[in-house]
Amino acid sequence: MRVLVTGGTGFIGSETVLALLAAGHTPIIVDNLSNSKIAVLDRIKTIAGVRPVFYQVDCCDYDAFRNVFEKEPVDAVIHFAGLKAVGESVSKPIEYYSNNLVSSLVLLRLMKEFGVKNIVFSSSATVYGVPDRVPLSETDPVKGATNPYGETKVMIERILEDAYKADPSLNIALLRYFNPIGAHPSGLLGEDPNGIPNNLMPYVSQVAIGKLKALHVYGDDYPTPDGTGVRDYIHVCDLAEGHVATLKKLEAKPGLVVYNLGTGKGTSVLEIVKAFEEANGVKIPYVISPRRPGDVAENYANCDKAYRELGWKAKYNVTDACRDAYRFQQQNPNGIE
Ligand code: NAD
Ligand code: UD1
Repeated sequence: MRVLVTGGTGFIGSETVLALLAAGHTPIIVDNLSNSKIAVLDRIKTIAGVRPVFYQVDCCDYDAFRNVFEKEPVDAVIHFAGLKAVGESVSKPIEYYSNNLVSSLVLLRLMKEFGVKNIVFSSSATVYGVPDRVPLSETDPVKGATNPYGETKVMIERILEDAYKADPSLNIALLRYFNPIGAHPSGLLGEDPNGIPNNLMPYVSQVAIGKLKALHVYGDDYPTPDGTGVRDYIHVCDLAEGHVATLKKLEAKPGLVVYNLGTGKGTSVLEIVKAFEEANGVKIPYVISPRRPGDVAENYANCDKAYRELGWKAKYNVTDACRDAYRFQQQNPNGIE
């Protein structure tokens, strides 16, 4: 398939581009490089031997994006493009709503204009809000997120549902990712956050190479086995394969489908610290700090549906992800340059 990948130079997008190439698909990347580097394309070439077609285009820019659709006939779209920093979305809500919603609306308008019927959307476990119970299943209520970033995911899911109701010939997959971590095993591609990381794994990796002094563990008094927060960490390579499996599903014209992509297993902050230390033979100093506002005690996925319907499940564990994240951090102490 010829697959348009918006946000294809980003963390998950670039890994998915590699998985698409390995599966024999042709990715066409559209990214405005607002949160990724052009050098990612060279690294994809180093790993896969192919430099994918790339357009530096903002998906909110109808005319520029239309030009891509005119030049590149596509069978499907994977829509990763979006802003994703939770904290920043609270201080810059207009930018988040505007970028994430407008880019999606322009994309849907162009898909309609050019008769493209298949789309995979990067949603998030955040749409479930504060869970009543874990593990979370796709049938659990979308209660709404606790921040503007998460709200954009809820809204775009809703827009896609309405688009499907109006045109049942569309095939739409809403993929709710849990916590993506890890990096490509080559150490060439991985998560490259700006400034001090907000998320656990990039923070731990930067402590490991001495860039940051100590991890702040946000709360050790949660009702979890060791008192620290529990999440479902999924290796980014597994996540990428989940997209390839989803495209195959879309070929069978399923209509609108929703899948949790996680591992089905919860891991605590202190278990991540231990796994990282064991995988890499390093010490991660940490201090216990107050809970972070907005955090929940426990969040992990029931991924049976993805296994049943896509034949996909995660292969890697957190130790693999810690090893790969560290390799990427060591090889790229200042990010992808
Ligand atoms: P990322 O920031 O690394 O990648 C997103 C890419 O989109 C970046 O390369 C950025 O430059 C690009 N982009 C942003 N706005 C754009 C626009 N208007 N036009 C063109 N390109 C634009 O993020 P990621 O971690 O790879 O996440 C990919 C998707 O998955 C996002 O939609 C994110 O919200 C979603 N997601 C991520 C996580 C996570 O923990 N990383 C969890 C759940 C969902
Ligand atoms: C957060 C977002 C979620 C988003 C995801 C990926 C919130 C409420 N949720 O998930 O919407 O999809 O990032 O971008 O912000 N922790 C520490 N110390 C740190 C960092 C994190 O102890 O320095 C703990 C957290 O308290 C949590 C766990 O590590 O228990 C994971 O945190 P993080 O990586 O930020 O992901 P989430 O909060 O689960």
